[in-house]
Amino acid sequence: MDGHPTKFLRARIRHALFTVVPDRLTGGRLRARHLRQPIELTKITVGHVDWPLAFDGLKIAHLSDFHFGHLAASERIREAVITANATEPDLVALTGDLIDLHADDCGLLFAELAQLQAPLGIFMVLGNHDHLHAPRKVIAAARAVGITVLMNECIEVQRRGSALTVGGIDWSNRIKDDALRLREMGVMPHLLLAHNPKAFASASALGVPLTLAGHTHGGQIARRTKPQHNLAFTHRFTSGLYERDGSHLIVTRGVGAWFPLRVHCPPEIVLVEMRSLAEG
Ligand SMILES: [Fe+2]
Repeated sequence: MDGHPTKFLRARIRHALFTVVPDRLTGGRLRARHLRQPIELTKITVGHVDWPLAFDGLKIAHLSDFHFGHLAASERIREAVITANATEPDLVALTGDLIDLHADDCGLLFAELAQLQAPLGIFMVLGNHDHLHAPRKVIAAARAVGITVLMNECIEVQRRGSALTVGGIDWSNRIKDDALRLREMGVMPHLLLAHNPKAFASASALGVPLTLAGHTHGGQIARRTKPQHNLAFTHRFTSGLYERDGSHLIVTRGVGAWFPLRVHCPPEIVLVEMRSLAEG
């Protein structure tokens, strides 16, 4: 185990208190009801002047927070993969918390995610839950099925002789760390993956056209008419689309959850269509 033993223990206690005990008390009904909720597909179109013209109309399937484990077994991941593939994305972005607690069975998760289809590739960053037990195991299992794990780095994808830079930053809860990591990349990404939406503070200051994040689960309990009013009140960016100085952030509600209750906050996959506002 190369994770954080104390945080891992705390997460296991929280899991027992908020997930296992309530589920047992309801005879398994809580979990069953939770998993009956269909995964919604949200379509968002945004544009930016610095988005390369060759990548105008790029379709990105954004999936996050599977929390593979007690509340999300292989069948649920398969459902998400089928929904994502049906959108025929050019690129897939996975923004962390792929597993919930133990990393031992993560090969089963990645066997499902290996079925994702996107000609420009599948990119991933780690979330706080991926770091709890054995992050190196998670990274190795992802890479074994051809997923590109971005650990504070950028790579280029090519189309019609033009390059799009895709960057990813590792889990962090400090805006200062995000800024440092982005600076250390040495090149500004067109597309940034970050588990924590806090990264948008630094990304928008740099002029990153599009940042994709998860982590908040949309608060899991939200107001029916105002989804951005939700339980994730320690976060500024909790759910949906945000804009600052022309940079955009999308925070997905995610596919899974760490406790089996979502109210006016269904699980979600986002399909982003990114337009270039550059003059041709
Ligand atoms: Fe999460």
